[in-house]
Amino acid sequence: MAETIAGVFKSIESVRMVNSGTEATMSAIRLARGYTGRNKIVKFAGCYHGHSDSLLVKAGSGALTCGNPDSAGVPALVAAQTIVLPFNSIDALDAAFSLEGKDIACVILEPYPANMGLVLPLPDYLSQVRDRCSRNGSLLIFDEVMTGFRISLSGVQGIEPVVPDLTTLGKIIGGGLPVGAFGGPRHIMEHLAPTGPVYQAGTLSGNPLALSAGLAAIELLEQHDPYNSLAESTRRIVQTLINAFAKKGIPVKIPYSGSMFSLFFSETEVRQYEDVLKTRSTWYKPFFNGALKRGVFVPPSAYETWFVSTAHESNIIDKACEALSATVAALEPES
Ligand SMILES: Cc1ncc(COP(=O)(O)O)c(C=O)c1O
Repeated sequence: MAETIAGVFKSIESVRMVNSGTEATMSAIRLARGYTGRNKIVKFAGCYHGHSDSLLVKAGSGALTCGNPDSAGVPALVAAQTIVLPFNSIDALDAAFSLEGKDIACVILEPYPANMGLVLPLPDYLSQVRDRCSRNGSLLIFDEVMTGFRISLSGVQGIEPVVPDLTTLGKIIGGGLPVGAFGGPRHIMEHLAPTGPVYQAGTLSGNPLALSAGLAAIELLEQHDPYNSLAESTRRIVQTLINAFAKKGIPVKIPYSGSMFSLFFSETEVRQYEDVLKTRSTWYKPFFNGALKRGVFVPPSAYETWFVSTAHESNIIDKACEALSATVAALEPES
């Protein structure tokens, strides 16, 4: 498994298996702190990296949907070590580095944030973040728990010209069983126990059952290479929605990449968390119910990204497009 992951991800030479995405990001951050000898971390509002204390600050995913982006139970002293910035603003990152650069261990981000809906980086943004991390001696962590093996076999770093220091993986890597992983260059990973002073271990880490399932899933992806056809199915649904909403006169923005997309009720582009909060998400409920009534189970939250999977064969996409068009046509104006 380790050889397969290292063969797929250009940033990974050495990998540590864990049991979930949460463990992967939590341990990668501890490693970054141990490696740099610094305390603070930078995350971006609306990005979700699992449920460890330092990451439940302005989080996305269920935390956002349930109205608790800053979870109760996280001590203020812990939250104070997490600097939260707006995604897509290099000025905000520059300001943080100029104020606290010497104490910033790492910058962690979802390279294509997908836990507040899908928000794509501006051209060059990821390269600029890479550049600022390198100049300030902070590690760059790409959280590819969601995008790994999904946007491409090798995640966002497979299609963007940016190499992070550490990468975290989860979800698909377990083939349906609980697995996470994090990895990077050997000279950083060697700081982990038992070779180094940063402790990490787990009873079930690397257990043969979960890793066999994960390896089988990756081998299937390598054999069948579904990425072009997933992207084509995505384009068909996105175009259907664009046409239907245009006909109806309801402004929407639908960012997409590979098999992921998201529907924002917005006249303007959605570039960061604040933009997401300004979208007219009240439209989403009638849209969701209309689609469900017509047999299409779309994400149950305006802040969840949509995923097309290999189970969605062409005839199913046809039916979904038909039902989604009818759903949009039947939408009643907001009361
Ligand atoms: C980008 C990202 N990172 C980390 C996590 C946490 O993974 P897990 O739920 O396996 O702990 C998630 C889960 O949704 C995620 O989307």
